[in-house]
Amino acid sequence: MYFFGKRSFSAMFVVAALAAYFFNSSECVAQAPAVQPIPMATEDRVQSQGWWPTKGSGPREEFVGPAECAKCHSTEATSWAKTPMAHASAEPKDSEILRGQGDLTFHTASFSYEINQTGQETVYSVSDAKNTITQPLLWAFGLGHKGQTYIYQRNGAFYESRLSFYKTLRRLDITTGHLKETPGDLDSALGRRLGPEEAQRCFGCHTTASTANNHFNPDRLTPGVTCEACHGPGAKHVTAMQAGKIEKGRQSVLNPRRLSAVASVDFCGACHRTWGDVIQAGITGVANVRFQPYRLENSRCWGRGDARLTCIACHNPHAPLVSDTAAYDGKCLACHRIAGANATREKSGKPCPVGRENCVTCHMPQIDMPSMHAPFTDHRIRIARPGDPYPN
Ligand code: HEC
Ligand code: HEC
Ligand code: HEC
Ligand code: HEC
Ligand code: HEC
Ligand code: HEC
Ligand code: HEC
Repeated sequence: MYFFGKRSFSAMFVVAALAAYFFNSSECVAQAPAVQPIPMATEDRVQSQGWWPTKGSGPREEFVGPAECAKCHSTEATSWAKTPMAHASAEPKDSEILRGQGDLTFHTASFSYEINQTGQETVYSVSDAKNTITQPLLWAFGLGHKGQTYIYQRNGAFYESRLSFYKTLRRLDITTGHLKETPGDLDSALGRRLGPEEAQRCFGCHTTASTANNHFNPDRLTPGVTCEACHGPGAKHVTAMQAGKIEKGRQSVLNPRRLSAVASVDFCGACHRTWGDVIQAGITGVANVRFQPYRLENSRCWGRGDARLTCIACHNPHAPLVSDTAAYDGKCLACHRIAGANATREKSGKPCPVGRENCVTCHMPQIDMPSMHAPFTDHRIRIARPGDPYPN
């Protein structure tokens, strides 16, 4: 489920895209780029000082685990535990899909697949007419809101299963990003070998502290996107707070609320992919609908950044996604007025000639991504007319 394997960096494309970013505004005045905060690639963010999600330099002994944070922040901890992010990876024995479905099977013209529970282990196997290979599964990646992919190890390398479980299908099918063509041998029918860097990145977004002290050590990770994946290792914060040193404690943990609008979106983009990450990787077409920061920042609404339109303006990272579309109306109406109302400094956005509520149902359309078997919400806010091509 990974699209960033190959790097198709094109300097020309980046320059053109940056120019487009700066002119993405209702004003016609060209701004000096040097003084504007601009979205960055995660690769550059993690080089900067201080904590940033997916940064691997945090010392292992300073990660305390979410149970420790819960002792003083029970509100965040209780609702966070119900989020898909908290369950972005799990051991097979803790995966509801694997526990709940019984044995899973899948057949193609050339291969037969099975995932079975054998005692404490979950084993994944593929057979052709003659032979079978079997591997115990190590990890289930993705809660399975859309899909769940499996990780196993073979001859010292990590592999991504060729099959994933899809909730809408309620069965296994080919993993997004894998070729539909028949694999040449059993090994590649089982899964795709992850290069060391790719494996590290994959664990980096779906687990906490798989890399610490700049060393990838998945044996010591904490599954899921936990408090410290976002806020940084917490030992110093906890020690200071226990000693009543509030100011010192505050300074030793990242509070993303204090980030600028652009940095705040880049923060979520460390895993959801920033505008800069998508430009750098050159991902075009419907495949980029998964990358909300890129889509959002290409909206006319975004301008050059506005705290009323960051990810956290609409989503609480400590709570499950809100699926009631009307709940988002207030976010749009922070800038747009209802038809008939006068424009104010704050509400400079034009009114809608068509609707007064459920704005996102028309202006943030659901886009089907081939091979994901479930739609994504397009975060490029726009007038989506039937038959219009997908705007890059
Ligand atoms: C011993 C109690 C204690 C523990 C354990 C604890 N915190 Fe805190 N934390 C506090 C207190 C007290 C504050 C300040 C609260 C306030 O501003 O009202 C705070 C504030 C914060 C803030 C906001 C900082 C700011 O800028 O104001 C964050 C973020 C935070 N904690 C995250 C964490 C995380 C992540 C963990 C686990 C690694 C954790 N805390 C564990 C007591 C604790
Ligand atoms: C350390 C990586 C990481 C960071 C940082 C991160 N996310 Fe996520 N996020 C994930 C992963 C992985 C998933 C997929 C979880 C799953 O379904 O298994 C996800 C899923 C989500 C979902 C989908 C929930 C659903 O119901 O399908 C939302 C919403 C979300 N993240 C919002 C945010 C916001 C807002 C921020 C920034 C405050 C953020 N994320 C930062 C890794 C991250
Ligand atoms: C740069 C961070 C990043 C990397 C690297 C990454 N993922 Fe994800 N993954 C995410 C985020 C964010 C989401 C949630 C949004 C989405 O579905 O695209 C996600 C979603 C998923 C889902 C769907 C989850 C669900 O509940 O539907 C699966 C499965 C998955 N990833 C598996 C993998 C595997 C396996 C790898 C490595 C081979 C990988 N991912 C690499 C960030 C990442
Ligand atoms: C996906 C990233 C993410 C995860 C995971 C996460 N947080 Fe946060 N946290 C944020 C962001 C973004 C903010 C700032 C916006 C806000 O307050 O919601 C924040 C703010 C906070 C604050 C300060 C609230 C304030 O009023 O300023 C505390 C305390 C906190 N988080 C604790 C936790 C604890 C405890 C956990 C784990 C149970 C956790 N967070 C998990 C991203 C995250
Ligand atoms: C103007 C409000 C708004 C903003 C800003 C926003 N989102 Fe969303 N987001 C939504 C809505 C609406 C949904 C769909 C909710 C539903 O019906 O399930 C959604 C869904 C999601 C999902 C679930 C997958 C999907 O495609 O449905 C993820 C992940 C997500 N948002 C991440 C982000 C991130 C990361 C950012 C910041 C770049 C962000 N969102 C900014 C409104 C917003
Ligand atoms: C931070 C302020 C802000 C927020 C929040 C905001 N918008 Fe906008 N929006 C603007 C501005 C500024 C423009 C461009 C000038 C105009 O059309 O008024 C715009 C333009 C638009 C357009 C026209 C786009 C085009 O391509 O012509 C639509 C449609 C729109 N917004 C809908 C929404 C919806 C729906 C939401 C909530 C999901 C929303 N906006 C949230 C400020 C905002
Ligand atoms: C039933 C679908 C629907 C709903 C619901 C809806 N809109 Fe629209 N909106 C449209 C269409 C279609 C247009 C294009 C109208 C035209 O140009 O003919 C539009 C146009 C707009 C524009 C551009 C106006 C201009 O003069 O350029 C904005 C801004 C906008 N909508 C914001 C919103 C907001 C905010 C909400 C929620 C309060 C909302 N819309 C609800 C369908 C909808």
